[in-house]
Amino acid sequence: MKNIESKLVESRKYKPDDKFIASSNLSPTDLKKLNNLYKEDPDNFWSILGHKEIKWIKNFKSICTGDAPFYEWFRDGKLNVSENCIDRHINKNKNAIIHITEDNKKQIITYDNLYTLVNNFSYSLKNIGLKKGDRVIIYMPTIPESIIAMQSCARLGLIHSVVFAGFSSESLRNRINDCSAKVVITVDAFMRNGNIIQAKDIVDKAIEDENCPTIKKCIIYKNLGKKIDLKDNDLWWHEILPSESKIVDPEIMASEDPLFILYTSGSTGKPKGIVHSSAGYLLNCIITNKWVFDIKDDDIFWCTADIGWITGHSYVVYGPLATGSTILIYDGAPTFPKPDRFWDIIEKNNVSIFYTAPTAIRTLMKLGENLPDNYNLRSLRLLGTVGEPINPKAWIWYQVKIGNKKCPIVDTWWQTETGANIIAPIPGITHTTPGTCTKPLPGIEIGIVDEEGNDITEINQGGNLVIKNPWPSMLRGIWDDEERYIDTYWKKFNNRFYITGDTARKDENGNIWIMGRSDDVVNISGHRLGTMEIESAIVSHEYVAEAAVVSYKHEIKGEAIHAFVTLKNSFKNYNNTEFSIQLRDWVKEKIGSIAKPDRVSFSDSLPKTRSGKIMRRLLRNIARGEDISGDTSTLENENILVQLKNIL
Ligand code: WTA
Repeated sequence: MKNIESKLVESRKYKPDDKFIASSNLSPTDLKKLNNLYKEDPDNFWSILGHKEIKWIKNFKSICTGDAPFYEWFRDGKLNVSENCIDRHINKNKNAIIHITEDNKKQIITYDNLYTLVNNFSYSLKNIGLKKGDRVIIYMPTIPESIIAMQSCARLGLIHSVVFAGFSSESLRNRINDCSAKVVITVDAFMRNGNIIQAKDIVDKAIEDENCPTIKKCIIYKNLGKKIDLKDNDLWWHEILPSESKIVDPEIMASEDPLFILYTSGSTGKPKGIVHSSAGYLLNCIITNKWVFDIKDDDIFWCTADIGWITGHSYVVYGPLATGSTILIYDGAPTFPKPDRFWDIIEKNNVSIFYTAPTAIRTLMKLGENLPDNYNLRSLRLLGTVGEPINPKAWIWYQVKIGNKKCPIVDTWWQTETGANIIAPIPGITHTTPGTCTKPLPGIEIGIVDEEGNDITEINQGGNLVIKNPWPSMLRGIWDDEERYIDTYWKKFNNRFYITGDTARKDENGNIWIMGRSDDVVNISGHRLGTMEIESAIVSHEYVAEAAVVSYKHEIKGEAIHAFVTLKNSFKNYNNTEFSIQLRDWVKEKIGSIAKPDRVSFSDSLPKTRSGKIMRRLLRNIARGEDISGDTSTLENENILVQLKNIL
């Protein structure tokens, strides 16, 4: 099979500003030292970092042991992750969490408060009989109590699995049963977009009629004070707390004891329960917070991800707390009551580091391109993105309108499976270009390989993105499914490297450009093109808000391109044949006629996962006239499928 061709040219370069460089956590000399240290002796590199960054109950001697695909890290070491996140930072009079609700209430929790709250809730969990290794489902919005629940599980050695509180009863049930959880922790209800979501009802429906036989108790935190239907096994959070504050000693955990399971959807079949370890996971979270987010004592770090996603685990809960930082959490919709909510929160709370997803950036840009002008965003000093390739147009808007042209943007590439950032700029050092996540972090060896697993050495030729070395926060497997773990991530290249499932290319400066998922490649007249590049070209048209490109069978070309396009609100009436011709010419001009879409269709939105990723798999089904196949439980807006099918 041929390599994937790249037609996208983007060469604008941005240097970090001098003020940022002067105070950044890593200097070019530090970075060089780190890279040399790794090159000389990877074990020594990880050993130094492991000793330096983690508080151990028993120090480790063993570093990386085992063979692909079953590596172990620091296996003889003992620690407790929650002790690392909380106990280390008490008596400093420091804020841990600033919490803003959708209806604009604000609450501040110091590390000392958090210590008390976590100890008390740990006491309650222990009291109801939970033991090390038991699985606990957390089905809650992003509020302090969900963080307290996660940290309490970590304190007791319970394996938590946070299920995003937008998932249906059925998705929740599947996840509960997959990991045989004993307890669900939830809330009565929460607000989203001004509506009340009755979370407890969804939980009830998931576990009713003995559907989840392993569940013994359901703990409910009274969040909005809504009436609920209290069942026999239900316990109110506030009623099981001790009457006087208790201290619960952190459980002594082995490095390799699982910290959590997080379900992520595969392209087909049931979701995969990705398992993460304790020490290794924590280590990469800590170092990336320091290196990539340049975290400092006086920062206010707002990562907008919900705790139901890996980004919420690593850059809301574990990384920032382990570094003793102050985080902001907002439990509401970005567009409520207006699409300037993020900017308002940043201004009012002096947020200094802001981390969000391209889909949020594009949405806020679509709904209010100039709204940020009404706010003073000068407290910001660093911006980040994650989750998808960011198209240059959105990147530039983010840089100019939000970052006031002075904040470095860290485009961080990583996955649920990698635990922490893998490819990302070092903000005080790296010169960035819109659309590339730049270079692998120290300690990570990236490869771009062809279908036989050979390195692709030509510049800008795309191939499979793989990770060639083990790293501490790598997934330890899929819960209860070793075969699927091997099949999905290792088998194709005989365990030689971890297969990310993404495609990428490397440019003449050594920067990595993600081209999409391996199955998001179109093959037009023998040219394999990444769909992301075509999408980026379409989105650079001023009328366009979002686009997704898939292929369908074509008698002559093999495959032809179908572009699904959403227009900006003010250009909605351009959804006509004439404009689709214009748009095709636009792509021809930007990339070449090879990439010209054969079909263009317009719709109000695109099918997305609840974390904002466009589900191209479903669009492929539609473009090819097939029935929708595979798992659709993560789909956010099911109605859009009907609209799209009718358009064709
Ligand atoms: C995509 C999110 C381009 C990629 C942390 C990856 C990205 C998948 C980027 C993982 C980025 C993530 N640029 N693509 N900066 N970051 N992706 O598991 O396809 O929700 O494989 O983890 O998102 O998604 P996940």
